[in-house]
Amino acid sequence: MSDQVTLTRDGEIAVVTVENPPVNALGAAVRQGLYKAMEEIDADDAIKAAIIIGSGRTFPAGADIREFGQPPQPPGLSEVCTRIEDATKPVIAAIHGTALGGGLEISLGCHYRIADPKGRVGLPEVLIGVLPGAGGTIRLPRVAGIAAALDIMISGRQVGAKEALSLGILDRLADGDLLDSAKSYARELVAEGAGPRKTSERSEGLGTDAENAAALEAARNGIVKKAKGLYAPARMVDSMEYSLTHSLQDASNYERDCFMECLKTPQQKGLVHAFFAERASAKVPENGRADPRPLSKIGVIGGGTMGAGITVAALNAGLEVTMVERDKESIDRGRNNVEKVYARDVEKGRKTEEQKAAIMARYTPSTSYDDLGDADLIIEAVFENMDVKKEVFAILDKVAKPGAVLASNTSYLNIDEIASATSRPEDVIGLHFFSPANIMRLLEIVIPSNATDDAIATGFDLAKKMKKVPVRAGLCDGFIGNRILGKYATAAAYMVEDGASPYAVDEALVNFGYPMGIHAMGDLAGLDIGWSNRKNKAATRSNDARYNGTIADRLCENGWFGQKTGKGWYVYKEGDRRGTPNPDAEKIIDEARRDLGIAPREFTEDEIIRRYLAAMINEGAKVLEEGIALKPSDIDVTFLFGYGFPRYRGGPMKYADMYGLENVLNDLREFEKEDPKFWKPAQLIIDMVEKGESFDDLNKRAAS
Ligand code: 3HC
Ligand code: NAI
Repeated sequence: MSDQVTLTRDGEIAVVTVENPPVNALGAAVRQGLYKAMEEIDADDAIKAAIIIGSGRTFPAGADIREFGQPPQPPGLSEVCTRIEDATKPVIAAIHGTALGGGLEISLGCHYRIADPKGRVGLPEVLIGVLPGAGGTIRLPRVAGIAAALDIMISGRQVGAKEALSLGILDRLADGDLLDSAKSYARELVAEGAGPRKTSERSEGLGTDAENAAALEAARNGIVKKAKGLYAPARMVDSMEYSLTHSLQDASNYERDCFMECLKTPQQKGLVHAFFAERASAKVPENGRADPRPLSKIGVIGGGTMGAGITVAALNAGLEVTMVERDKESIDRGRNNVEKVYARDVEKGRKTEEQKAAIMARYTPSTSYDDLGDADLIIEAVFENMDVKKEVFAILDKVAKPGAVLASNTSYLNIDEIASATSRPEDVIGLHFFSPANIMRLLEIVIPSNATDDAIATGFDLAKKMKKVPVRAGLCDGFIGNRILGKYATAAAYMVEDGASPYAVDEALVNFGYPMGIHAMGDLAGLDIGWSNRKNKAATRSNDARYNGTIADRLCENGWFGQKTGKGWYVYKEGDRRGTPNPDAEKIIDEARRDLGIAPREFTEDEIIRRYLAAMINEGAKVLEEGIALKPSDIDVTFLFGYGFPRYRGGPMKYADMYGLENVLNDLREFEKEDPKFWKPAQLIIDMVEKGESFDDLNKRAAS
């Protein structure tokens, strides 16, 4: 067949096995192999039925995304699906693992589908900016109905085998070994004389014309909310609608055109970049050089916002957790913070009382550091104060077993200094979680000067166990994320002082794709955090830099910290998370501008975005230049998973490539005229523009 597809026989049954590890992606060789296998099966009278199965961990998990944008190699996936459907003998898909995208489409090209009960199916193309391009929009609604098919495609969710069976996507679940079950099924079909059954000609999932039209209309109306600014979902509806009144050939062509259109969008490029960037972030030199230390018991110091969230994340990962607090009152609060999360899970039906009890049995609250003696890893999440942290690490040095990894969740503090409170700085790393730590997927793994490779590898192992997305960050004020945030938050503060309304800034960011603007975000997190940070840094602030906190300080001086006080940049009605502009904040802004002697000017949405992004990208480049981030895609991952950067834009550095690095430099040069210090272009950007390089080039270099 091909190197990646083999055809074997068991009596009258042909077994076609796809072997293209790790996920059996449907690259050119697999497509060619499947096509040839169908030709051979049709030509061989001794074969009465065929099975298509994946070797290793999964049925094909989709088209080979790496081929997107390359010259197409025949046969196309759509052609292969139709070739399977045209086979003259019954063809059965035997599904295990994840039959996703083109994988599910291959199985829908088959005449019958059987799956391992743990198997999952789905059409996640939306997550990489395209629509199913090999008959998914045509065949899935014919068995599952329009509403279910669109729900699956627009959400991109994975559907468990049992649900897929109930939706008509599968015909049966395997009992025991999948291949044996598939063979029994094939023999039954042969014995019954059941021939090929073309999905494209079935209609039991579909309703009447009026019902179908209503389902399509409902999807179109709901798309703005569900699709979150994505382009592909509307084309899914179009393609499905078209298929209802056209031949398979015409509908396939139409679907293909929609697919090609999506392939040309920047959204598709941003999303594919995000897919690979996410998977590249754990590839760090330390992981290659050392194995992680054993990890089953962890300690958490502090049961506040972060300590409780980290504890839940660790418990959810199956680890045992001992939480230590200062005194009885604090540990009771800590325990309550953890309990609350699981009580809510039970209330929402996500967990049973028994599951909650089983998880809580792995949790030990304590007020004694001595209980941490058997912990493999201890994460400190106490107040953001160097003296308090050093005190805690000095105690940990005494109680932790040899070889335990000691980690700090500090947001800004120097971890080398924290480590100096111990006699074992080689065991100390930073594990910077994001709030809420049990939900947010980003974990910055911060590398202080003395940390050993295996301590660092243990941090990455923890991220894996917790299903977090780890990013390796060097040591500096704010690491990757908060350091860059500091710059673009300053750019936003300057714009507001200079005349932009904070609401206009937020609106521009939401239109750019952010779930909320920076001022709404500040209100959510608490404006007091930034205020206290500015106060802490007042002594070391450079005199020649323009201050960025005049307005925010004045809001805080009034006790307006955002949502928790009902007032900040916005005002919030009791229990309402969406605010309306705060007229008192607007007065403060006017006063501040007068006091600063600023004559306010207009900012267009375009200028707001250019300034915000230029500040972000420029600092990103400096972070790269200094080796704080190893590669541009790590910065992208940080902002996609920790700061709400719209995924379909790929992250700030990918955005820079798409916007054009030369345009970024021109923007910086323009802004530099008004404030040479703040807007000084990174040398890396100047050099890259000169050489005609992109951040993607740097990513490729880092991967090689
Ligand atoms: N194409 C190319 N490479 C792929 C791939 C694909 N479709 N899916 C996964 N890979 C690669 C990953 O990049 C990774 O490579 P690496 O080891 O070099 O980093 C490796 O396979 C393993 O992937 P994961 O680390 O993600 O493994 P998991 O076990 O965590 O997850 C998975 C497996 C659920 C299959 C996940 O990889 C996934 O969601 N893949 C994408 C599935 C998808 O989007 N399919 C649709 C493709 S588009 C399509 O089919 C178009 C069609 O309609 C025409
Ligand atoms: P918090 O104030 O909610 O909790 C701190 C907890 O530490 C309190 O419960 C306190 O009783 C306890 N504590 C103080 N000293 C202690 C000691 N010596 N021994 C044991 N427990 C002690 O603070 P939060 O927000 O959880 O922050 C903790 C750390 O996490 C800080 O370093 C912060 O910068 C960092 N962080 C905070 C984020 C956030 O969004 N809140 C995000 C990422 C990091």
